[in-house]
Amino acid sequence: MRIKIFVVSILLLFSLISCDSNIEKVSISIIPKPKFLKQGSGKFLINERTQLSFGSETKLNSDLFKDYLNSITGFNLGLSDESDRNTIVFMLDDRPGEEYEIRSSPDRVEVKGGSNQAILYAFQSLRQVLLLGDGKTIPSVHIIDQSKFEWRGLLLDCSRHFMERDFVKRYIDLLALYKMNVLHWHLTEDQGWRIEIDKYPKLTEIGAWRDDGEGGRYGGFYSKEDIREIVAYATERGVTVVPEIELPGHSQAALAAYPQLSCTGGPFVVETEWGVFKEIYCAGNDSTFIFLEDVLSEVIELFPSEYIHIGGDEVPKFRWEHCHKCQRRMEIEGLTDEHELQSYFITRIGNFLESKNRRMIGWDEILEGGLPQGAIVQSWRGFDGAIEAVKSGNEAILSPTSHAYFDYGLNDIDLEKVYSFNPIPESISQEAEQLILGGECNMWSEQAPQSKIDSKVFPRLLAMAEVLWNNPADRDFEMFKGRVRGNYKVLDELGVNYGFETVPVKVFTKNEDGRLMVNLEAYDSSIQVFYTSKGERALYERPVHQSMESVWKITFKSGKSTFSDTIFQRFKPHFANGIEPTIASDYNENYAAGGDTGLTNGLKGSNQFRDGNWQGYWGDDVEVMIDLGEDRLVSELSSGFLQYNNAWIFFPTEVSYLKSDDGVTFEKLGTVLNQHSIKEKEQQTQEFVLKLEEPLNTRYIKLKAQNIGICPAWHDAAGSKAWLFIDEFSVK
Ligand code: ACM
Ligand code: ZN
Repeated sequence: MRIKIFVVSILLLFSLISCDSNIEKVSISIIPKPKFLKQGSGKFLINERTQLSFGSETKLNSDLFKDYLNSITGFNLGLSDESDRNTIVFMLDDRPGEEYEIRSSPDRVEVKGGSNQAILYAFQSLRQVLLLGDGKTIPSVHIIDQSKFEWRGLLLDCSRHFMERDFVKRYIDLLALYKMNVLHWHLTEDQGWRIEIDKYPKLTEIGAWRDDGEGGRYGGFYSKEDIREIVAYATERGVTVVPEIELPGHSQAALAAYPQLSCTGGPFVVETEWGVFKEIYCAGNDSTFIFLEDVLSEVIELFPSEYIHIGGDEVPKFRWEHCHKCQRRMEIEGLTDEHELQSYFITRIGNFLESKNRRMIGWDEILEGGLPQGAIVQSWRGFDGAIEAVKSGNEAILSPTSHAYFDYGLNDIDLEKVYSFNPIPESISQEAEQLILGGECNMWSEQAPQSKIDSKVFPRLLAMAEVLWNNPADRDFEMFKGRVRGNYKVLDELGVNYGFETVPVKVFTKNEDGRLMVNLEAYDSSIQVFYTSKGERALYERPVHQSMESVWKITFKSGKSTFSDTIFQRFKPHFANGIEPTIASDYNENYAAGGDTGLTNGLKGSNQFRDGNWQGYWGDDVEVMIDLGEDRLVSELSSGFLQYNNAWIFFPTEVSYLKSDDGVTFEKLGTVLNQHSIKEKEQQTQEFVLKLEEPLNTRYIKLKAQNIGICPAWHDAAGSKAWLFIDEFSVK
């Protein structure tokens, strides 16, 4: 008897679980996942007689909701003061501020919230439900929901690449759909000033345009009218637009317009390269502060946001060190170094914002030289900035490069990586946790003009939206992925050209009996992979032997979206393929090229330093030893290096090759000196090849590549440690 009850209960439990997971997958893939969702039976069907009912407090949403519903359902729904059958009712009640509740039945849909913001969130859940289905059906459901973090943002960099006003509005709408509530609008940069300021017209006459390299100019800016329209659009949808006006660095476009605000007086051009530049506002010049206060006054007039972002990141101190006005300022103010001068600069701006009842946010560099009281730190170089900020009682927002940089490729940050993001740093107290406002994903646009933004932001934004909305303890990536797959229908309806969830095709090699075998692995069976080698295109089906150095063009198309992509991959077969080398110094974990065997896997790097094939060493030389296992006849040794001095990566000064018969005593075979200018700005690669006059028999081979050590005096990061990037050590 007991056993029978047990079996029956297990069966019942099983049917409940499977029924629940069915509901999850098939019907209601709302993202972010609501805190509580229970599906009932039946459904509410919207028809031409369906009415919308708003209480006096929720009336301000009526036009917005009506417009959305009209476009989804095709019906021009009427308004009603009654809450009869066939009505969708929106009302406020006395629940906690941003909590909402939806109860839908075949008769009616009832939406309640603690505030209008909560009603907006509830509506976005309904909007997703409709878009997930046939556009007219709301399944019977009970939802109670509220967010975990108050700050859920996206940074849109409209400075490196200009984005049209309507594109920005479209992003506000997409943010609102996923209950994100902050658009962090990056409006000023070295490469372009994008906001109209009446008092300083040259900011947009000159600062908004850069040389496009083809005899024309590239750029654009937002007029005050544009900005008012965008802010109003966001406000209506419960999204706060936080403007970022970069200072004291990333300001070359402003200095091109007003060079008298610099340490040297200029002249300058609006920058055309990407990177960090040494031309910054002069901190010793009072007119700098007058200018910035004027600019910020006009910014404050346009943006109702309580928060104003002042940048503060990546400020090379070179100009300040060599400027008598800056040095004089340090003397008068009793500042011991340029970091304290930076803190003085930021504090002065912070005090001005405070006098206007606004709060200052800055990137984590504003901690250097002393953090101004009350400033909010946006931690991007990992979590440490946030930890330090909350320890001193300041609030923090997290957007670490490890999880939140959507300009990075999927080999660095894929959907699962974003989904593993927890904005609460480990090791902080429960009290300090209260100071973590939330997180942001950053869409920097150096490599992404407007046309590429969708594929970079989506679907990763869905993961960010969910982890910022939900308690991290609720996470289950597989379930989430199911909801994402369901939610593609919503993105399709809205014309979002989303990218892939992870690296769509992984390229790897294996050494089989001395033969280099190339494997292509698609992460999903819906992806078909083709490769073109030596002019012939083929469907990839099984590992391919690669006997000669060659480049493959690998193309793939997802079965899920219209998005497709291409990879070019160079392969290099040689004796040492697959042998694990001994590496004397530590490479950086962000540039590991797959680990030690990354240097012998036959995969050459492209001219993109983040392509996953480059191994990066910061400030150190590279010393790599290969044991061939037995004597081999060796005639050529080579290694590949990348240079991109904007990212502080330089070719080695020289590469030496050595041999040994016992692995202990090495004899130098030759040294290859760098023949290429380290001043050239573009990303480029070089092979450092040593051809032996006489082939020789040896078992142990070593490479020593000399890092230039520190960035040279002419470089914007003069004195900082330099990077050395190597892709392969090949032995022939
Ligand atoms: C940043 O990525 N420089 C904030
Ligand atoms: Zn100066």
